[in-house]
Amino acid sequence: MPKLQRVPEANVEYAYGIYLLSTKHRLIKTLRKRYKPSIHGDRAWGSSFLLMDYLSERGLKKGAKAAEIGCGWAGLSVFCARKFSARMTAMDLDPAVFPFVEVLADLNGVEVEQQKADFTKLKAVDLAPFNHIIGGDICFWDSLVQPLVRMTNRALKSGVESVIIADPGRPTFYEYCDQMASKHDTELQQWYASEPDRYEGEIVEVKLKKPKKTNKKQ
Ligand SMILES: C[S@@+](CC[C@H](N)C(=O)[O-])C[C@H]1O[C@@H](n2cnc3c(N)ncnc32)[C@H](O)[C@@H]1O
Repeated sequence: MPKLQRVPEANVEYAYGIYLLSTKHRLIKTLRKRYKPSIHGDRAWGSSFLLMDYLSERGLKKGAKAAEIGCGWAGLSVFCARKFSARMTAMDLDPAVFPFVEVLADLNGVEVEQQKADFTKLKAVDLAPFNHIIGGDICFWDSLVQPLVRMTNRALKSGVESVIIADPGRPTFYEYCDQMASKHDTELQQWYASEPDRYEGEIVEVKLKKPKKTNKKQ
């Protein structure tokens, strides 16, 4: 059982060591009057909690450099910065998400770099500085599958150690996983998160295939 964590006021949630604000919180209501995310980046989605749980179990090297693509409010980046002192870049195509990212990062006392970026257009040179690329619920349209496949290929080729994507289990996500499995080391697992509520879904971790060891005698 996790330790009971009292929250300081109404509409504040606590999950995996970070504070989050619900859509009913007065600060979020105020931000929403001015900034209106338009590609679903309008809350912390369950897939980001799946990744918080997954990374709590699997770990991330202290100080690792990672990019969260399609970050929305970037709760996941805040979590990685807080728990692993990870150097996080939160990327999203929709600039209206960044004021929400700013508030969550401040609330949790961490720094998260923000970058307006279309993950389908990230080049090898943009991806190479990162150890990991992570993202929750970013493969939700048919039109996103092939670009995400190509971005993952470019990332792994440019030296990124792993690409980790979580999803509630959409057909588009499984299509991405199938294509990854035919080319790379791919681990697809059902996962659940227990904070702030129970969420179930899938997580895929993609890495470059290790070359097979040969048993040649010298
Ligand atoms: C369903 S939300 C998930 C947000 C966040 N990952 C989470 O789990 O809470 C999808 C996010 O992906 C962003 N997005 C959609 N297409 C994108 C693209 N091509 N490049 C970067 N971000 C994109 C949206 O703006 C939105 O913030």
